[in-house]
Amino acid sequence: MTIKVNDNFAALSKSYLFSEIGRRVREYQEAHPEANIVRMGIGDVTRPLPQCVVNAMKAAADELGKAETFRGYPPEYGYDFLREAISAHYAEMGVEMPADDIFVSDGAKSDCGNFVDVLGDNDIYLPDPVYPVYRDSNVMSGRRITLLPSGRDNDFLPMPDENCGTGVYYLCSPGNPTGAAYSAQQLARWVEFAKKSGSLIIFDAAYEAFITDDCPRSVYLVPGARECAVEICSFSKTAGFTGTRCGYTVVPSELVFDGVHLRDLWARRQATKFNGVSYPVQRAAQAAYSPEGMAACYENIAYYRENAAMLASVLDEKGIYYTGGKNSPYLWLQCPNGMGSWEFFDYLLDKANIVGTPGEGFGKCGEGFFRLTSFSTHELTAEAVRRLREVL
Ligand code: MLT
Repeated sequence: MTIKVNDNFAALSKSYLFSEIGRRVREYQEAHPEANIVRMGIGDVTRPLPQCVVNAMKAAADELGKAETFRGYPPEYGYDFLREAISAHYAEMGVEMPADDIFVSDGAKSDCGNFVDVLGDNDIYLPDPVYPVYRDSNVMSGRRITLLPSGRDNDFLPMPDENCGTGVYYLCSPGNPTGAAYSAQQLARWVEFAKKSGSLIIFDAAYEAFITDDCPRSVYLVPGARECAVEICSFSKTAGFTGTRCGYTVVPSELVFDGVHLRDLWARRQATKFNGVSYPVQRAAQAAYSPEGMAACYENIAYYRENAAMLASVLDEKGIYYTGGKNSPYLWLQCPNGMGSWEFFDYLLDKANIVGTPGEGFGKCGEGFFRLTSFSTHELTAEAVRRLREVL
């Protein structure tokens, strides 16, 4: 007799995409200690937290150090002050979202990975290319996955078609990795399809703050979405919380499948497996919504947008096809000279000491494409642009 392990893990690639990239870059750096590597692989922010966010975190830590203001376990779904601030944020977008439907967490990645806990044996539909967390978490739990191919022909924005049945659909807009964003009309078609087929949309809005045009920043801007969609969002990219960790998931009370409220299951799951986000972090997230916090967050986003424009300019100059950049911190480009995406990864690392993310890591349809992030500093982005101009 022996313990049985979860053999679904055998179907995963050996390591998580960004861990594999980290490993390859470390090896390269060890072999080339003199190389001044510009990191544009994982989408990690570089701008510091807004000062009012830092102040709120410090003040909250001070409260925890005094007997009269000390707090223990946080409420498992988030403090009311933060759930209400998120609800007010939705109201500003024109969406009525009761605080009771909002569940605060330690980030969108965890929620994307954990949501499988409350879903039964459904068909899972994922865009290809896709953020690996949706795919890997469903592989781990042995779900049947159908991929929705995307490419230049549909601008990397797959739409429902005759191959789509009742199931769970993960959509990310603006998309990771492609940076492509769905228009209101396109999202309305998804919502209509989901309602007609009895499907659920899991909508990842982690990059909503980067939208510059009239693409919806929330799926709930589309009428009917409350009856068919969960939305997951994050403070990571909007407020610089990649290290601080805070996000939230919205599970509207209208989501009822087989007579069961999905919100009740998610509440039960979170209460059982999660002890909430620390008080200082939730105060910090609340401060990000203050007028001063929002102004600072959008200044940082504008900063990253300038980086994206710099990167886009060199791609334009070289006549290289790409998506993203406009509504997204990511630029998703076609590898030049027919190179494969890992081949281009090695080429760029070796010839320009630039790290990006090979498209194939996001799925088969990502082969031949490559992702660069605009989350670096202006100085390093300018340096990367100079090097790209030479090697592309
Ligand atoms: C990415 O690079 O795709 C993201 O930073 C990963 C994440 O948000 O987990």
